[in-house]
Formats: sequence, structure tokens, C-alpha cells
Amino acid sequence: MWWSLISALALISVVRCQGVRETCLSGDEEPYLLFGTKTAYTFSHKGIPVMRSHEVPGCQPIAIWLLNRHGSHNPEADEISEMQRLSDFKANILANYRNGNFRNSNQRMCPSDVNLLERWEWNPRQNMTFAGDLTTDGYISTQQLAQAWRSKFPGLLTDNKYDYLFKYVNDQRSSTTFRAFTEGLFRDQAEGMDVPKESDEKLLRPYKFCPAWTRDVEENNETLTQLRTFSSKQEYKEMITNISLRLGFNYDINYETVLSMYEMCRYNKAWDNIQISPWCAVFTKEDLMRLEYAEDLETYYKYGYGTPMNQKLGCTAVKDMMDFFKIHLDHETPQQPKATIHFTEAEMILFTLTALGGYRDSAPITGDNFHTQTARDRKWGTSIMAPFNANIAAVLYKCIPNNNLKIREPYQVLFLTNERPLYIDGCNVGLCDWSLVKTRLGLVADNCELNFCNGAGKVNGFVGVLVAIIAFCFRLLY
Ligand SMILES: *[C@@H]1O[C@H](CO)[C@@H](O)[C@H](O)[C@H]1NC(C)=O
Ligand SMILES: *[C@@H]1O[C@H](CO)[C@@H](O)[C@H](O)[C@H]1NC(C)=O
Ligand SMILES: *[C@@H]1O[C@H](CO)[C@@H](O)[C@H](O)[C@H]1NC(C)=O
Repeated sequence: MWWSLISALALISVVRCQGVRETCLSGDEEPYLLFGTKTAYTFSHKGIPVMRSHEVPGCQPIAIWLLNRHGSHNPEADEISEMQRLSDFKANILANYRNGNFRNSNQRMCPSDVNLLERWEWNPRQNMTFAGDLTTDGYISTQQLAQAWRSKFPGLLTDNKYDYLFKYVNDQRSSTTFRAFTEGLFRDQAEGMDVPKESDEKLLRPYKFCPAWTRDVEENNETLTQLRTFSSKQEYKEMITNISLRLGFNYDINYETVLSMYEMCRYNKAWDNIQISPWCAVFTKEDLMRLEYAEDLETYYKYGYGTPMNQKLGCTAVKDMMDFFKIHLDHETPQQPKATIHFTEAEMILFTLTALGGYRDSAPITGDNFHTQTARDRKWGTSIMAPFNANIAAVLYKCIPNNNLKIREPYQVLFLTNERPLYIDGCNVGLCDWSLVKTRLGLVADNCELNFCNGAGKVNGFVGVLVAIIAFCFRLLY
């Protein structure tokens, strides 16, 4: 008996000495839920007072302009095959676990995380037929958002269809979003209500009609320079090693697999906000913050301030907004439509915020400064700016000027993003004098021509050098 007790104690100490420490990431009480462009709206905006009418003292709202991103959707056509491979990958992880490949690792996945993973199955409905379609959750969150706007601005979002103009794009996601939104606004009357609507892809996705942007930004390697810098850092490689060890691999799994797991994790949390995703349990909070920063770097240079051309593309939305407000200025009686409501994509939300001058950092974010205070305090953050159901609103108010309330002019515009004030220089918590809006955004709207989109590329570097050399030689000769 003594002998068996002693051997039991010995065994415990051996296990101790090997330092087996299991990581149970699914049990985290405060999981990190900011997943860039695939963040659920509720995670992005904890604590918004949703159902409350929005009041600006001394002012009456007379018009609202609203730009919305769709809710959560199925994996896109180009994501499906890579993500589907997670089924095989899951089998490999389980095999690792059974074969005891974890023995030498001090950071293996804990049994309950493995059990969760074991129960996970790829949903066969996630196939090409339904690729990219709005999900049930995306439908409901869109209805809820419409209801929230209606309770904030009951005088503008009425039951009269002539108070509205909807603009969308002719595809499943956009038209389903339109249906969900109008159901949220009009409830059971929505069906028979033929609200004014038009399809306008040039306005809502100008980047699809801009070969110069596609060539010089979207498909240009240089756009991702900062992202490459970040992902070539030692700590990024170490992150991949750590994730591999956690899953029982004694070699580094490839980066595409890490990204697929990340996609699955964030889709899971967007489709079902409550259920724990086994794929999220693969990542620590620090891993998730790095992956989030990587997407911020990508979007900053593709759609934001990182590349000058990006600031021009969002002008189509700004011009639409300015044209809409002009209908309402200087009229004694209310004009129709009172609400212009658009449905678009994350890219356009980011382009528009950039054209409006929101979320602007004083210095560019880079692949080198992740650990600095500047990066931690950065304004540019995709999870906050462009989650699912992201939205930008501009509300025109007619006011009685009152110096105490800092209302200096009879017309004011309130800018909101995701139902919170959008901070713009020269404005007061999102509330701007019309004169400022007119000067600053009027300039953006008046100069909104996308002729540059069809222009030739930058002067070819080689030709440029050649010209310089020839010019130099001429100087020497004469
Ligand atoms: C996708 O799944 C649905 C339902 O399971 C099925 O009817 C459809 O044929 C599938 N499409 C493809 C391309 O496999
Ligand atoms: C651009 O990217 C492609 C594909 O990733 C790569 O083959 C090529 O070498 C890159 N070019 C430069 C200049 O980095
Ligand atoms: C990798 O894991 C080790 C051991 O737990 C830890 O000290 C280190 O910070 C991790 N590195 C990264 C980049 O997460």
C-alpha cells in the first residue's frame, strides 16, 4: 500500500516536472470578440442606448441620410474550399491528441476544447449555391437596426412611403438586406408597400468601376507592405508556432490554415453570438489582437488614409449626401423624401469615413509600431468602423441658434457611425455647423469626378529614370 502511494506521488511529480499545463481557451470569461470586418455589431458596440429617440436641444431633425453595411453572411465563394478543409484539419488535431503528440508541449489544448472541436462539423449548406448570402442572424440584426433608427427618429422614419428613397445594389445580399430593413421599419405592412427605390452600383460601389484603383491599390503589392512587415515579425512567426503546438503539431502549420481557423471563428461568433466556437479556442487574446491589427493594416492602405487615392473614392457617398441635404435647406415646409437609405459593403463604409475625415490618426499605422502607445490608441480600427451592420448617418437639423448650447447656426448636421457620434475636426461631439459641412464636404462633393479611374498608371519608373538620365546628359553636353 505504501508502495503504491509512493509511486502515485512519484507519477504526479513527474507530470509536474514535465510542466504539462493545459490551456482552456474556450472557458475565457471575457473572450476577445473584435474580429475586424467580421465583428458582430453587438460586440463592436457594447452599451449603445439603442431604443431611444435622439434629441438635440433647440433643434428639429428634418432629414436623415443613412449608409448601411449588410449583416452577417455565409462564407464567400472564394473562401469556401479553403475553409471546408478544416474538416480534415480537425481530424488531424484529434489524431494528435489521441496519439499523445501533446506530451512535449507545455501549452496543449485542454480536453474540453478538444471535445468542442470534436463536435464541430462543416455545415454542408455552406456551399456555392448560398455563398455570401445574408444569414438568418444577419437578417434579424438588420431588422433590429431599422427599428432602432425608427425609435431614434420617429418624425423622419414614418409610415409614409414617400418619406423614403432607398438605394441598393442588385444582388442577393443587398436586396435581402433591403427587405429585412424595410420589414424592421414597417413591420407587417412592409410587404405591400412599394417604397421608392433605385439600384445604383456606381454610387454604392464606385471602386468596382475604377480600374486605376484596382491596378494601383487593390492589386498593387506595395499596398500590403506594412502588413508584410508586421507578419514577418518574429512574434508573428512565434504566434504560428504557439498555435501549432497548442494543436499538437511539432512543426509550424501553414499560414492559410491559421487564417481559415480565424475565419471560421469569426463567422461562428457572428452567426451565433452566444455559442462558443471551437475555432476561437485555438487563439489567445494576444493572437486575436495581432490578427485584428493585421486587418487594420490591410484596410488602412486599401480603403483608408494610407493611400491618397482612397480619399477620392468615398466622394460619391458624400456628394449624394450633400445633394440630398440641399433639397431640405431654406424651405419653410418639410420636403420629401425625408430619409435616403443606402445598402452597401464594408469597403464603402471605410471609403466614406475616410472621405468624411473620420477616424483619422495623426500618423500612419505601420507594421512596426504594434506595441507602441500610438498603435494602441489608434483611431483607425476595422472592428469599430466596419463590423457587420456598420452604418453612417448624417442628420440635418433645423435649430434656433442658442449660444449657451453652442448652436450658432440655424442648420446643423449630426454625424453618427454605428449610432455613436463621429468625431470630426471643428464639430461638437458629431454636431457640425452647416457652414462647416458646406465648406469642407461641399469641396469633396464638388470635386467628385472619377475620371482619374480611367487614367493611365503612374509614369513608369524605368521611363522616369531614363528621362532623367537623358536630361542630365543634355545638361552635360550643353
Ligand atoms: C447546396 O446545398 C443545398 C442544400 O443542402 C443543395 O440543394 C444544393 O444543391 C447545394 N449546392 C451545391 C452547389 O452543392
Ligand atoms: C508581388 O506579389 C506576387 C505574388 O505574391 C509576387 O510573386 C511578386 O514577387 C511580388 N512583387 C513584389 C515587387 O513584391
Ligand atoms: C508563445 O508561447 C510562449 C510560452 O507560453 C509565450 O511565452 C510567448 O509569449 C508566446 N508568444 C506569442 C507570440 O504569443
